[in-house]
Amino acid sequence: MSTASLFAKTIDHYLAPIRSYLADESVSEVMVNGPEEIYVERDGELVKTPAVFDDTETYHAAINNILQFTGKSLADDEALVDARLPDGSRVHVAKSPCARHGTVMSIRKFAKSMLDLDWLMELGTLTPEAREFLEVAVTAERNILVAGGTSSGKTSLLNALSALIPRDQRLVVIEDSAELQLQQDHVISLESKAADRFGRGAVGIRELFRSSLRLRPDRIIIGEVRGGEALEMIQAMTSGHGGSMGTLHANAPLDALNRLETMALMSEVELPLSALRSQVSSAIDLIVQMSRQIGGRRLVTQITEVLPLGDHGYYQTRDLFAQQQVSDDAGGKALWLSWTGEPSSMAGRLRSEEQARVTRLTEGVFGLDGEG
Ligand SMILES: Nc1ncnc2c1ncn2[C@@H]1O[C@H](COP(=O)(O)OP(=O)(O)OP(=O)(O)O)[C@@H](O)[C@H]1O
Ligand SMILES: [Mg+2]
Repeated sequence: MSTASLFAKTIDHYLAPIRSYLADESVSEVMVNGPEEIYVERDGELVKTPAVFDDTETYHAAINNILQFTGKSLADDEALVDARLPDGSRVHVAKSPCARHGTVMSIRKFAKSMLDLDWLMELGTLTPEAREFLEVAVTAERNILVAGGTSSGKTSLLNALSALIPRDQRLVVIEDSAELQLQQDHVISLESKAADRFGRGAVGIRELFRSSLRLRPDRIIIGEVRGGEALEMIQAMTSGHGGSMGTLHANAPLDALNRLETMALMSEVELPLSALRSQVSSAIDLIVQMSRQIGGRRLVTQITEVLPLGDHGYYQTRDLFAQQQVSDDAGGKALWLSWTGEPSSMAGRLRSEEQARVTRLTEGVFGLDGEG
């Protein structure tokens, strides 16, 4: 069993007394003032619960188990500690002398898709250099597709990346069922709608897409591309909506481009294949490939740049980040998502504020050695 799923299992065991509140959608926070005094915030109201931990030992064991994942423990000197539960919920623990009547713990629950980049880093989903690269790419308004298999963490990564979009930009979010939680002020969320029992009133992703273009967004975020709307998305991306993003089911970057093409062909619009391919390749700048590992870990396995079509009319890509073997601390081999040595074609096109974000971690990727 992987460390992450083992962690989830032991936590579930130790937190048994409050498990039902953690699972309860209407509860946003669980506050444990002591083993026998547990409050929850339900629909914004503070409520005392009948829940209790068996005794102080059990309660402390539960906290120690949560802290273990962050490498800390109640025995440490630190009086105030922050940690997270496997689902992304934030935990804050205060112990004496700061907490004068014994250790208190508060769990601020987070919806699953609220995993942010910090938490994805803690889960080992991506490396610091890959993160920095993506941060610059989002700021620089690259069009990004997150590709991966079922439940590989695509939506979570898209959500985390969306947090990097400047606050003042106007975003339109298009989804089949609302999952993404954008933090910007200026967000218009459109959700598709099934037909009523008379077969009327259905609104598909594709119609939403057309409507979104009239709403003058700076960027369009599409939860998942899976049909004819691919064509609208491609055209939006090539016509002044730089920085748009979405997810797509595919097991490799080239596979993602081919699927996008196939889906665009599903629209009734007639377009020569060569023209469509060149639109696909100019629309998509980057593909972030995700994969779900045995044991439940989710990893970014590649960050790939889409190049202009080759002479023979085929897609061409260039891996900027890929998993490479490195020696780990224990002297064994581990895979680490690292720079392949290929420069990004973004190099030299960055604005000054984007260049300013580039540190030593990625200056090679952006070709900024010595000047950035
Ligand atoms: N980086 C990650 N590490 C560990 N767990 C993750 C990670 N990202 C997402 N998860 C968990 O994996 C599950 C699926 O995540 P998510 O919905 O983001 O995947 P998806 O690829 O969009 O799935 P789908 O194929 O259903 O669209 C969720 O329970 C989520 O909490
Ligand atoms: Mg998804």
